[in-house]
Amino acid sequence: MTAPTTDTGLLRPHAEQAYAAELAALAAADDRPRPPSWELSPWAVVTYLLGGVLPDGTAIIPKYIGPRRLLEVAVSTLATDRALLLLGVPGTAKTWVSEHLAAAVSGNSTLLVQGTSGTAEEAIRYGWNYARLLAEGPSEAALVPSPVMTAMRTGKIARIEELTRIPSDVQDALITVLSEKTLPVPELGSEVQAAKGFTVIATANDRDRGVNDLSSALRRRFNTVVLPLPAGEDEEVAIVTRRVAELGAALELPPVPAAAEEIRRVVRVFRELRAGVTADGRTKLKSPSGTLSTAEAISVITNGIALSAHFGDGVLRASDIAGAVLGSVIKDPVADSVVWTEYLEAVVRERPEWADFYRACREVSG
Ligand SMILES: Nc1ncnc2c1ncn2[C@@H]1O[C@H](COP(=O)(O)OP(=O)(O)OP(=O)(O)O)[C@@H](O)[C@H]1O
Ligand SMILES: [Mg+2]
Repeated sequence: MTAPTTDTGLLRPHAEQAYAAELAALAAADDRPRPPSWELSPWAVVTYLLGGVLPDGTAIIPKYIGPRRLLEVAVSTLATDRALLLLGVPGTAKTWVSEHLAAAVSGNSTLLVQGTSGTAEEAIRYGWNYARLLAEGPSEAALVPSPVMTAMRTGKIARIEELTRIPSDVQDALITVLSEKTLPVPELGSEVQAAKGFTVIATANDRDRGVNDLSSALRRRFNTVVLPLPAGEDEEVAIVTRRVAELGAALELPPVPAAAEEIRRVVRVFRELRAGVTADGRTKLKSPSGTLSTAEAISVITNGIALSAHFGDGVLRASDIAGAVLGSVIKDPVADSVVWTEYLEAVVRERPEWADFYRACREVSG
């Protein structure tokens, strides 16, 4: 049903591969003005992300479920001279949105720098092929461009994941790139000037380490868009249902019936523990140390489906998900066990329609 439109045979195709047919249909239907070197107009990019039906009847699958305005702000930022920073707690689709934006705008989501505490300046500027450097001295041929440099040359989007994990002095290499739109190569006495269309989408997690770690000089070069947690239970159930179906299709898991009920249950458990209060507002709860993100709910259900398809009776049951729910909730073996046991006894046990889930959870808790 909601499988990616193009089967590439790859375990994890890039967005522009998986949705090649959608992107081509959008480009054909799109008669609005496109910013320089964009593959689509801003309107078509937002349609690609939020879904819709084209005049010729082509259905565009929604990739992101959330406020339209947010994406409009994000996409119009990309058409200005400021870069885009997607900020949010873990699992709010920052990486996902960044990949799809790059695929829709540039037709290429692979110019990617993965930020870690070990990311060096070469990852943002350029490095050298040392054999050539030693043999020939510095030359254009000995230079190894970074994804950012390639994006500048070709007028495409460079993606920087987890920007705030990158050491500050390395982050600062971006300042010249973003403000002057040029990358000097002193060794060659030259520079790479950005072609029109070049910009950067960075993501950062506001849980790991504060965005204060971003120097104010760099921060001024970005427009920040905060991706929220899903507003309501129905919205979160819709996100999980859609992604589980897509992942299941991509992994070629057999379709498993009755997933809807278990999805709602996992989402309810996660939301209640996250909020520290039951859905009816009656019982206060302690929250566990982890984030219990939507992304985690998706993986709990996908694991359950694999368990049930291969070792169960092909129907998703409480016993297929209990172990994974426990694994998500209990990140700190001592403190989170207390939180979970309280929730199990005070909330799960009191819900007659959750008797199967209560039993299954008791069993895996040992
Ligand atoms: N609002 C949403 N709409 C569609 N998919 C969503 C939404 N929220 C979460 N997801 C799904 O959650 C999964 C994880 O998202 P992603 O990895 O992009 O999160 P992230 O914000 O980058 O997290 P982290 O901070 O851990 O890197 C993706 O598969 C994505 O489809
Ligand atoms: Mg991410």
